[in-house]
Amino acid sequence: MLTNFDLEKMVDTSDEWIRTRTGIVERRIADPDVPTSHLALSSAGAALESAQTEPRDLDLIIVATVTPDMFFPSTASLLQQKLGAGYAAAFDILVGCTGFVYGCAVAREMIGAGTYERALVIGAETLSKIADWQDRSTCVLFGDAAGAVILAPTEEKHGILDYSLGNDGTNADALKIPAGGSLMPTSEQTVAERLHYLTMNGPEVFKFAVRAMADSSEEVVRRAGLAMTDVDVVIPHQANLRIIDAAAKRFHLPYERFVRNLERYGNTSAASIPLALDEAVRTGRIKRGDHVLLSSFGAGLSWASMVLRW
Ligand code: ACO
Repeated sequence: MLTNFDLEKMVDTSDEWIRTRTGIVERRIADPDVPTSHLALSSAGAALESAQTEPRDLDLIIVATVTPDMFFPSTASLLQQKLGAGYAAAFDILVGCTGFVYGCAVAREMIGAGTYERALVIGAETLSKIADWQDRSTCVLFGDAAGAVILAPTEEKHGILDYSLGNDGTNADALKIPAGGSLMPTSEQTVAERLHYLTMNGPEVFKFAVRAMADSSEEVVRRAGLAMTDVDVVIPHQANLRIIDAAAKRFHLPYERFVRNLERYGNTSAASIPLALDEAVRTGRIKRGDHVLLSSFGAGLSWASMVLRW
């Protein structure tokens, strides 16, 4: 665990600044030798257990991450091997913090088409590996985590009702790792200039986030044939408490309907929504029949919202 007070000793920041600007108090950091697939494996194990499913029954594995173990093979392939999940189709989705909701949408369509029957969708990140621990404007924000769900067809009126995905590529520069890809391959110079770490235009992302979450949520709730007041629980991407506050005002929903756990984990990108979903289910906050709205924004700049009937 890394607290704001620990960070005060690492960069020029304060517990007070981090709490008031973000709401974050502490975050979990993976050991240096722990890759993303390792966190993905534990969350997959928990999801398989609660769905009473064996790894060999999976025929689709999707891992949403911006911190894959390596460029290729996919983290989903590495996980398949660790899980012993036979010959399931396996691939990664790279859309930043919206990746988990994108992954669920893709799995829903592949299952809906009748081609696949049992999908494991995971959001897993070790953002500590791409955070610049000398840059106070970003390193205080992030944490490491993973969360997973199993999706399967059902005749009952439960599950994913609808979703809304989108992206504004004109804002792609606002959140990126500049070097290490084909545009700017890693070199001594890119490492010296710290271009292999995450960079972010925080205020730009902030403005985008509130608008994108509100607009896509309104759209998906309407498409699901519901009114905003029918939403029992909102699980917003856990990036910043002020973004969640601003979104709550736009949604005209009581603040209590919004799940928040970022004070303990920080922004865990693609893992943030499944992590909060899991906590909300385990603590009884989400009950059978509840309408649950997932709403996220992230690199791209992308957005993804989804309505579930639990
Ligand atoms: N400690 C102390 N001071 C700081 C820190 C820090 N950790 N970081 C920045 N500051 C300073 C800045 O230098 C600046 O000082 P100046 O006025 O003297 O220049 C001042 O604080 C204000 O900086 P801003 O960037 O304007 O602060 P802001 O209120 O916008 O908060 C924040 C910054 C928290 C990053 C906010 O913009 C934000 O949350 N944006 C959204 C980020 C986000 O959600 N990203 C999610 C996507 S991540 C992903 O997809 C992997």
